[in-house]
Amino acid sequence: MIKKMVQFPVIVILSVVCVLAKGLSSADIESKIDNLLAKMTFEEKIGQMTQFSGINDAKEEMIRKGQIGSLLNVIGAEEVNCIQRIATEESRLGIPIIFGLDVIHGYRTMFPIPLAASASWDTALVREAAEIAAKEAASEGLNWTFAPMVDIARDPRWGRIAEGAGEDPFLGSAMATAQVKGFQGANLSNSLTLLACAKHYVGYGEAEGGRDYNTTDFSERSLREIYLPPFKAAVDAGVGSLMSAFNDIGGVPATGNVHTLRDILKGEWNFNGFVVSDWNSIGELMNHGIAGSPANAGTIALLAGVDMDMEGRCYSSDLKNRVDQKLVDDAVRRILRIKFKIGLFDHPYIDENLQKDIIRKTEYSEIALKLARESIVLLKNEEKILPLKCNKLKSVAVIGPLADDNDAPLGTWRCQGEREYVTTVLQGLQRKFQDDVTVYYTKGCDIESKKQKGFRKAVSLAAKSDVVIMVMGESADMSGEAASRSNLGLPGVQTDLIKAVAATEKPIVLVLMNGRPLAIADIESDVAAIVESWHLGDQHGNAVADVLVGDYNPSGKLTAGFPRTVGQIPVYYNHKNSGRPGNLDEKYTSKYLDLPLSSMYPFGYGLSYTKFEYSGLTIQHSAIHRNEKLNVTVNVKNSGNTAGTEIVQLYIRDLVGSVTRPVKELKGFRRVNLQPGEEKTVTFAIAAGEFGLYDINLNYVVEAGDFELMVGGNSTDVITGKFKIIE
Ligand code: NOJ
Repeated sequence: MIKKMVQFPVIVILSVVCVLAKGLSSADIESKIDNLLAKMTFEEKIGQMTQFSGINDAKEEMIRKGQIGSLLNVIGAEEVNCIQRIATEESRLGIPIIFGLDVIHGYRTMFPIPLAASASWDTALVREAAEIAAKEAASEGLNWTFAPMVDIARDPRWGRIAEGAGEDPFLGSAMATAQVKGFQGANLSNSLTLLACAKHYVGYGEAEGGRDYNTTDFSERSLREIYLPPFKAAVDAGVGSLMSAFNDIGGVPATGNVHTLRDILKGEWNFNGFVVSDWNSIGELMNHGIAGSPANAGTIALLAGVDMDMEGRCYSSDLKNRVDQKLVDDAVRRILRIKFKIGLFDHPYIDENLQKDIIRKTEYSEIALKLARESIVLLKNEEKILPLKCNKLKSVAVIGPLADDNDAPLGTWRCQGEREYVTTVLQGLQRKFQDDVTVYYTKGCDIESKKQKGFRKAVSLAAKSDVVIMVMGESADMSGEAASRSNLGLPGVQTDLIKAVAATEKPIVLVLMNGRPLAIADIESDVAAIVESWHLGDQHGNAVADVLVGDYNPSGKLTAGFPRTVGQIPVYYNHKNSGRPGNLDEKYTSKYLDLPLSSMYPFGYGLSYTKFEYSGLTIQHSAIHRNEKLNVTVNVKNSGNTAGTEIVQLYIRDLVGSVTRPVKELKGFRRVNLQPGEEKTVTFAIAAGEFGLYDINLNYVVEAGDFELMVGGNSTDVITGKFKIIE
């Protein structure tokens, strides 16, 4: 496309610069929509419901004719403005385009991938990161992000576990809320915010075998208890859009699902934003085998409640005499409502000078570093090898295919993130050690290749060093979309390299870099320490170096447990007890013959350089009515010598319910900073309404009865109390 410069009328620039534009009242918006709808042809309505990726001459022409309402994957303020000018000045009704992109964990300044960020359990910081991503992206003309991904994922083979907040609906809901609020800000009409999109509605994380896009089949109970809560939280937080998922749920594709979309989302929850399909997920209704033509697929999706067709070209096929006009009007109304709410009609253009004051601010890097540090999870620390005793160290060998890799830290979905802004682990350590410690470096092997040529050098460097730091794991494209794995060990010959280096008997600190929980039981005993660093964005190397030398005391806790072997999957903390709970000493119980009962590192797990002690668990009134709150206090003491942050977790178990209940359910958490020797009393006040269940008729009820309460620093090591809910 030929780029044309946009002449900004002064008034437009003013409205862009005036960041907090006045929002229109709902009544004003609805009457403006009525006016527009009255003028629109059927084709123009379908145009609003049509989204394409990228731009070319043919698409420009379609925009002129009002046949496109939204574009994704268009980058750059100038490009956006050129296209917007066609929509607003050359189309009959001048309805602006809404521009979307997958701004998942940063736009230019890159933050940790969502799974990593969730391990911080720091909703305020996660919100801030989303706010910054929104500012940077919006300053370059974007209006809408396809985030947050709020799919609960219990299967780490599924590469998209990287994009969400892990296995738990409670934490997932908290992270969903934080991200929606961060992206959308306090006022959607602020031009430096993005419309958020909770995805993928719904159950996509349940993909059979962890294979992306695969079929799912789960009960209405799991839907309500596990998969819906983060979406409901996003809706309650004001999210303006949702994306319908690729999977079918028990025979009904999510993109043609009247029950989840119309009945639950738009009915029960009264959601008044709009639903966009996933990429061609309407067209894929034909592959699912429930539609015979694009028009048939479009009809099914529209009936179900999908308002916008992403790259499916099904709504633009012949829908005219197939669907009730009221459904079309409702879809268009929803889309226009959001366009009004985000202020697109008032300020369709972006000031092309704005970005230079917004992107990559130093303070954004500081937040990125903070979140990167908080996302790191210390999994093992034998004989307190970490933090490294720098004053005693003379030499360190840094080994591994990811040690000096500046691509992997960017992770999946990197938008405009660039390698040159990434600090590698090697660089981070070199900066940290300066000339005081000799740093030897070699790759040793590649991430995936089978070649062992580099082993000899790696072993010889290890042999002459005091400590070995091995940076191993997955490249960025081994997690995320279409990146499922059936083997969750370290790829290629990395395990062999660890074994070869371990034979030197030098202490090994293993720094993992990956987008999912791995199954690493085979090397666990070869290394003294394991630091899970995920893909941490620009600040990866700085954050890891801070943790390794003790400038930051790690505080992250896993939000998805690590299995011992792939055969143990799915293994998650909030499982049901079963009729024969696992017992390794009894034959006829629910277990594997060749594995312990637990996961290798459970949900909520993560070590610190200090020690936290829990005592004095007190439940103020141990019998509460349904309309009351449970007030809980617990003392947490830092009994070590280092200041640290503990993530205090509160779980419950409903001991006797009318339907089976999980053995544990997270119901609260707090981040607590403690100086050495310091003790704090942590309080929780949780409404009894939070302890309910979906009864046999799937009505949400709070049942009277006995509960166990558990508090601790992970989902396994807890101190317990009891309470009752009474009639
Ligand atoms: C397909 C992915 O499933 C979805 O998450 C993403 O938002 C769209 N493509 C658009 O890139």
